Amino acid sequence: MPQIIFLPHEELCPEGAALEAKEGESVLDVALKNGIHIEHACEKSCACTTCHVVIREGFDSLEESDELEDDMLDKAWGLEPESRLGCQAVVADEDLVVEIPKYTVNQVSENH
Ligand code: FES
Repeated sequence: MPQIIFLPHEELCPEGAALEAKEGESVLDVALKNGIHIEHACEKSCACTTCHVVIREGFDSLEESDELEDDMLDKAWGLEPESRLGCQAVVADEDLVVEIPKYTVNQVSENH
């Protein structure tokens, strides 16, 4: 079974986490199931960017993002070449290392 390592995030998982995942599950669902409450404002319908994650390892094992996801990602806070929407990034047969960005667009607009 592939494993997802979540790097430490100050609020969501201060210690980081190593989670078992199943092929076909989204990165967001694996996190939520294990108590890592990544935001998902649009309920996983690829219409917000609050579930933005950066795939530090294993990015190429994921199915490529489609146009809609890319368009949404353009609006995400802290976009990187290996950024994905957690609700659209589906685990394949390889381990992943995932970083949860410090902020989401929601927080940025609330705080600034
Ligand atoms: S939960 Fe909104 S795009 Fe993933």
